[in-house]
Amino acid sequence: MAAESGAPGGGGLAIIGGTGLTALEGLAITRREMVHTPWGEPSGPVTHGTLNGYGVAFLARHGYRHTIPPHQVNYRANVWALREVGVTAIVAVAAVGGIRADLAPGGLLIPDQIIDYTWGRGHTYFEGGPDPERVVHVDFTSPYDEALRQRLIAGAERAGVAVSDTGTYAATQGPRLESAAEIDRLERDGCDVVGMTGMPEAALARELDLAYAHVAVVANPAAGRGAGAITMQDIQAQLEVGMGRVRALLHALLDA
Ligand code: HPA
Repeated sequence: MAAESGAPGGGGLAIIGGTGLTALEGLAITRREMVHTPWGEPSGPVTHGTLNGYGVAFLARHGYRHTIPPHQVNYRANVWALREVGVTAIVAVAAVGGIRADLAPGGLLIPDQIIDYTWGRGHTYFEGGPDPERVVHVDFTSPYDEALRQRLIAGAERAGVAVSDTGTYAATQGPRLESAAEIDRLERDGCDVVGMTGMPEAALARELDLAYAHVAVVANPAAGRGAGAITMQDIQAQLEVGMGRVRALLHALLDA
């Protein structure tokens, strides 16, 4: 990356955009790079550019036209492709439903824990092989990189954006939303927000030794926590509010 790096330690910083963030406003694009990986094709080309003068890579998790549903995202290819272009730290933006009562639509959370309820997704790079020295069991006690989390929290403060700085992210399979009873169960499990894309993305980043943290944007009260059914119109409207805050946070993150 030609411009000064946006990541600590001099490597590249990547932003993975989720629903509501298929393009990064303010990113001065320098080039797009299609990376072919041993795990197949990523959701699209990696977009290289500068934000506030810092080199940043951007990838739209669901594709640049938002056509790939959460259970069909090739998470392995996406994370691999980012490492391939020199990324060492990933800020992953993801829409969520709010379970904890104080997490209102439009608000942001930087979670510190994850519970994985997904299934049938390509979730590891360690598929076995001839090399007995290969590490298979990565530590995942703290699933997010604490230094990157703290940078995000500090960036939010500089931007004047309120964030909740701890919480547990529940990763569900989707693409349907949850039943009210499922949300009750997640709450009993200790989950604060629920989304469909947080896993296996976070674990794959850990397997490749990349720093990874989430900015969760509350799009709606989770099932059974609001008044009536959850509509896509409501989700879109609240996401627009939340994504404005995410953009301010990201600008401040790179302006330290
Ligand atoms: N559940 C799961 N994923 C989501 C939700 C939700 O309520 N809102 C946005 N992404």
